[in-house]
Amino acid sequence: MAKVLIATEKPFAPVAVKGIKEILEDAGFEVALLEKYTQKSDLLNAIADVDAVIIRSDIIDAEVLSAAKNLKIVVRAGAGYDNVDLEAATKKGVCVMNTPGQNANAVAELVFGLLVYCVRNMYNGTSGTELMGKTLGIHAYGNVGRNVARIAKGFGMDVYAFDPFCPAEVIEKDGVKVLNSAEELYTTCKIVSLHIPATPETKQSINYALLSKMPKGGILVNTARKEVINEEELEKLMADREDFRYMADIKPGNADVLAEKYPLRFFATPKKMGAQTSEANVNAGLAAARQIVDFIKNGNERFRVNK
Ligand code: 3PG
Repeated sequence: MAKVLIATEKPFAPVAVKGIKEILEDAGFEVALLEKYTQKSDLLNAIADVDAVIIRSDIIDAEVLSAAKNLKIVVRAGAGYDNVDLEAATKKGVCVMNTPGQNANAVAELVFGLLVYCVRNMYNGTSGTELMGKTLGIHAYGNVGRNVARIAKGFGMDVYAFDPFCPAEVIEKDGVKVLNSAEELYTTCKIVSLHIPATPETKQSINYALLSKMPKGGILVNTARKEVINEEELEKLMADREDFRYMADIKPGNADVLAEKYPLRFFATPKKMGAQTSEANVNAGLAAARQIVDFIKNGNERFRVNK
């Protein structure tokens, strides 16, 4: 009987765990649950004898993979898989998948939660501004970016996007204006929402040179990954530009300094909250469970992300 581990340092909503278990148990699999673990050794022990694992931002590195003697598949219930060592997985013959799009609406809604909080001066009683009529730049037009565009139109925003990997006609079809470079996006838009993945090419790519192009009153909202920001240069920019604000769903390394120096221009959620809704947990978690069943029973590798 195949054994599947749900390893989530940040747990799914109980309704999602119930649904995941049902799918796996109906398929005849055994399910083990490891939630809120604080030690890597807990994961190393729990993964030792399982055939499959469902994770979120949990780190699956070479050490974890080598402890997982029977592992055949890792499914990241979510979009980004920068937390999995793909090369080590491939070497071990382990298939890695994600569940693209399943939590995209939740993340996109949080973008606007952060933005309204920001432009209303963190609800401190002073007069803020509105989102209507403002320029919004979507940096990368994937599943989250698309949902951000849809919601932004409801707010009456003027929406632009830059994505070198997405055909212009896909973006234009959504009524979004296409820009041809990151420089153009940051120069044009007062508000930029980041949706690029963390890859060797994108890490630290959001730097002083780019951010300093933003119009007066610029706001950067980051629900993607902290690694894409050059944090030292962001700090310098915030020191140089009193009008610039940064809202993040992923606490930067220098969060304490920024929070102390710029209490009304910087906010970060204490824990990544973008995908933390029961709907997103159900969508991504159940998709992960179904993908595991289909992989183990039928060899379906549709959502495989490693070679
Ligand atoms: C993702 O890549 O899907 C999001 O960043 C959500 O991550 P989480 O599952 O750790 O909340």
